[in-house]
Amino acid sequence: MLADTITRYQKRVDNQLEQVIDAQAVTDPKLIAAIKHGALLGGKRIRPFLVYAIGEMLNIPLEKLDSCAAAIECVHAYSLIHDDLPAMDDDALRRGQPTVHIAFDEATAILAGDALQALAFEILCQPIEDIEPQQNLAMVSALAKASGYSGMCGGQAMDLSATDKQIDLATLTRLHNLKTGALIRCAVELPMIAAQLPQEEQTRLMEFADAIGLAFQVQDDVLDITSSTEELGKPQGSDCDSNKSTYPQLLGLAGAQATATSLIDDALSALTKLPYNSQLIAQFARYIIERRV
Ligand code: IPE
Ligand code: IPE
Ligand code: MG
Ligand code: MG
Ligand code: MG
Repeated sequence: MLADTITRYQKRVDNQLEQVIDAQAVTDPKLIAAIKHGALLGGKRIRPFLVYAIGEMLNIPLEKLDSCAAAIECVHAYSLIHDDLPAMDDDALRRGQPTVHIAFDEATAILAGDALQALAFEILCQPIEDIEPQQNLAMVSALAKASGYSGMCGGQAMDLSATDKQIDLATLTRLHNLKTGALIRCAVELPMIAAQLPQEEQTRLMEFADAIGLAFQVQDDVLDITSSTEELGKPQGSDCDSNKSTYPQLLGLAGAQATATSLIDDALSALTKLPYNSQLIAQFARYIIERRV
C-alpha cells in the first residue's frame, strides 16, 4: 500500500511541477534547463507525500493540496542545488545525475535555486478553492519560516560552522531539526492549516512531524556510511570525507540507528493519540528508517 501510494503522489506532484515550470516564459534557456534538471529529475518526493498523505488523513481533497505539495518540493529542490555547490558540500552527483553546477555552471546553479525558491511562493500564493485567504497567508508564512533563517537556511549555516569541529548532541540535534526537520514539519503543517484542526490535534501532529523530521536526517547520515553511491545517487561517504558533524560521527553507527528507531517510536506514539486512520502515515514513518535511499 505504501509503495503504490508513494508512486501515485510522486506522479501527481511531478505533473504539477512540470506544468508550472513549462508555463514559465523562457527568458534564458540555460536557466530553465537548470531549473528542470534540479527539480524534475528524480527525487523521492517525501515532502509532497506528507502533504498529500496527511491531507487525505484529514479529509482534504487532493486538488486542494497540489499547490502546497509543489511549493514545498520547489524549496527542497532549491536547497539541494545550493547544498551541493562548491561553497557548501561540494558534491558532484545528485539523484544519479551530475549536480546542477556540474551539468551547467555555478552561477546558473545559484540562480536556478533562487528561481525555485521564488517559484515556491508564487505557487503557494495562488488561491485554493474553499480555503480562506487567511489560511493561505498562514501557509505562506509557515513555508517562509521553515525555509529561512529560523529554518532550513539557519540549519545549513550551523552545518557549515560545525564542519571540521566537534559539537555536542544538543547542538547537532538543533542543527538537524533546522536544516531538514523544518521543511518536513512544514509539509505536515500545510495540510493541517487547511484542515483547521483543534489545538490538541495540532500539538500531536507537530510532535509526529518533529520526530520523523529528525529521524529522516539521522537516517540520511546513516546512509552516508551504510549505502552505496549507486543506490543513493549521491556520493557515499561525502560526510566522512568532508568531516561533517553527523549522528554516527557523534554516537557511532549503532547509536545513530538506535536514536532513529526511538524517534520513530515517538512518532508512532503521537499518531496513536489522534482520532484518524493513520495506518498509511505509520507505514511511512517506519519506511523513513528502513529505506536504503
Ligand atoms: C536529501 O533529501 C537532503 C536531506 C534533507 C536529508 P531527500 O532524501 O529527500 O532527497 P531527494 O529529494 O529524495 O533526492
Ligand atoms: C542537506 O543535508 C540538508 C539540506 C537542507 C539540503 P545533507 O547535506 O546531508 O544532504 P545530502 O546528503 O547532501 O542530500
Ligand atoms: Mg549539507
Ligand atoms: Mg549535502
Ligand atoms: Mg547527507
